[in-house]
Amino acid sequence: MIIGSKIKLRDKRLSDARNDYKWQTNPELVRLDAMPLLTTSFSQYLLDYTNALCHPTSTRHTFAIETFDGKHIGNCVYYNINETEDEAEVGIMIGDGDYWSQDYGTDAVATLVNHIFRQTNLKRLHLKTLDWNQRAQKCFQKCGFTPYGHLTRDGYNFVLMELHRKQWQERRREVKDGD
Ligand SMILES: CC(C)(COP(=O)(O)OP(=O)(O)OC[C@H]1O[C@@H](n2cnc3c(N)ncnc32)[C@H](O)[C@@H]1OP(=O)(O)O)[C@@H](O)C(=O)NCCC(=O)NCCS
Repeated sequence: MIIGSKIKLRDKRLSDARNDYKWQTNPELVRLDAMPLLTTSFSQYLLDYTNALCHPTSTRHTFAIETFDGKHIGNCVYYNINETEDEAEVGIMIGDGDYWSQDYGTDAVATLVNHIFRQTNLKRLHLKTLDWNQRAQKCFQKCGFTPYGHLTRDGYNFVLMELHRKQWQERRREVKDGD
């Protein structure tokens, strides 16, 4: 369990499948995430989900985001872990729209970033988000990510953002000095 200011991150469990299926079959959410709408049945999804939980990979770590009263509101992940380059990609989805724009996403990303830089040797985190998704970009900026380029893929235009360990350390020093 990784504790933030208003959320906690925990390992994924089978009981998350119902919410994850609901979010991956929600047209608004998949549009915001530039993902295809899931069309498989829930029973098939559950089989694949169980299999993935039983066979975790070393290049992907997914966490459920929970409120302090135990409500599962989304997920975050670091993946494409490249130990040669010491970098990984980060992703997040607050699936429950009742929790948007209330700092839950920022706290989840900041908590994930703190965890990664404390527990691994990774030196750079990066992500992509749709160029029109201002809420996501603002959330990542508040966590210290800065834009470094653009990518067009499958007809989507993405903004690329990054955060280096040194920048993260600098920000933490500034916060401590300000206390
Ligand atoms: C993107 C996401 C993780 C952000 O988390 P969140 O909890 O909603 O965001 P936060 O409240 O932490 O921060 C969002 C900021 O953007 C601002 N914002 C919201 N809508 C905005 C808009 N249309 N234009 C500009 N800023 C906006 C908020 O006011 C807030 O800034 P503030 O704290 O200075 O007021 C979450 O909304 C989400 O998962 N959405 C659905 C899926 C999605 O967009 N996925 C893309 C991920 S790459």
